[in-house]
Amino acid sequence: MVREHFPFFEKNPEMVYVDSAATALKPSCVLDAMRSYDEAISANVHRGVSSLSQQATTAFEDARTTIAQSLGVDFEEVVFTKNCTEALNLAAHLLSFQLEKGDEILILRSEHHSSILPWQELAHRLDLQLTVVDALGALSASTLLEASSEKTKVVVFAHMSNVLGILQPLDELTTLAKEKGWFTVVDGAQGVVHDLRSVRAVDCYAFSGHKLYGPTGIGVLTASKELLEAASPFIIGGGMIHKVAFEQTTFADLPWKFEAGTPPIAQAIGLARAVQFVLEHKDVLDRRVHELSEWFSKELAAREDVVVLGEGSHQGVFSFFVRGAHSSDIATLMNASGIQLREGHHCAQPLLEKEGISGLVRCSFLAYTTKQELEKVLSALDKAIRMVKV
Ligand SMILES: Cc1ncc(COP(=O)(O)O)c(C=O)c1O
Repeated sequence: MVREHFPFFEKNPEMVYVDSAATALKPSCVLDAMRSYDEAISANVHRGVSSLSQQATTAFEDARTTIAQSLGVDFEEVVFTKNCTEALNLAAHLLSFQLEKGDEILILRSEHHSSILPWQELAHRLDLQLTVVDALGALSASTLLEASSEKTKVVVFAHMSNVLGILQPLDELTTLAKEKGWFTVVDGAQGVVHDLRSVRAVDCYAFSGHKLYGPTGIGVLTASKELLEAASPFIIGGGMIHKVAFEQTTFADLPWKFEAGTPPIAQAIGLARAVQFVLEHKDVLDRRVHELSEWFSKELAAREDVVVLGEGSHQGVFSFFVRGAHSSDIATLMNASGIQLREGHHCAQPLLEKEGISGLVRCSFLAYTTKQELEKVLSALDKAIRMVKV
């Protein structure tokens, strides 16, 4: 039902792809939407009277409308970036206009490097306090409250960590933040595919197209108009101006003020189709990930040498190590059995350091994955354990 939408499997019948947290596979509707723009229109956007350029502009801005409506935010609040990393950098830039010396930012230790570094740099530049909060499972409002102080102004956390695989309770956390007057900045790279509807509750929400069944080369930052208006442009050049003069330059309206240069046109069209795909198939996509995760979680727990990081109900992301074995050996042996997965620090070095772990094997899947494939993953894991333990 779901799998037939993904041409990857016809091209790679023998491969077991369990690296969806690195990048998700794309359904045909997304590939078709991008191909039809590239084949039939192919023009640049926002380039005056040419009818082809107008068609391109309409397709591109319609894509933004679809994404805005699907997320429940306004058109002006959807800024296209090149990926989630750039969107997170833009979020820190927006907040830099709201913060002053001594203000505090709360951030989870389990954040991806892309979500840590912009805040570390900003804290250094503006002399802010960066306070690290620990949670290996769902972060509770009371933990956040305990970690906070009079100076807290911003809370930064991933909707779902790419290592721990547990969705954060956005409702609970954003309710507390609103009560306290804190800005919320959420890295939605891994969470958005499971929970598009929570985006609207957050002040700044960042994600990439390619982990949402969409293309690489595009990301999104949704941010409130107030934050976007208060900030100066981030990247400057053509496409984001109202008038350029050596005496004084004025900038375009929102959201184009933050989109310098030729934007990712085909990618925006593909991403809008991916968002529609998720909403059209939401029930079955969610149910499959949930059922597979429950089952896979029990299977891993039954293997006494396997230690899974992350406390709670995993959403298709399982990072683990095998006692007495190097993760890279386990991953290499599993790969030799045709399993495509990831091993390493997963851009979460502060978390691994704290847990005293040098590397983790990560198996991540989405609704197109089958139970038979996960059985192959488990038998490859068992075989790898037998080999390293002899
Ligand atoms: C939780 C998380 N945040 C941010 C990123 C960065 O995403 P991108 O590389 O698409 O910018 C990733 C990528 O793996 C991620 O998993």
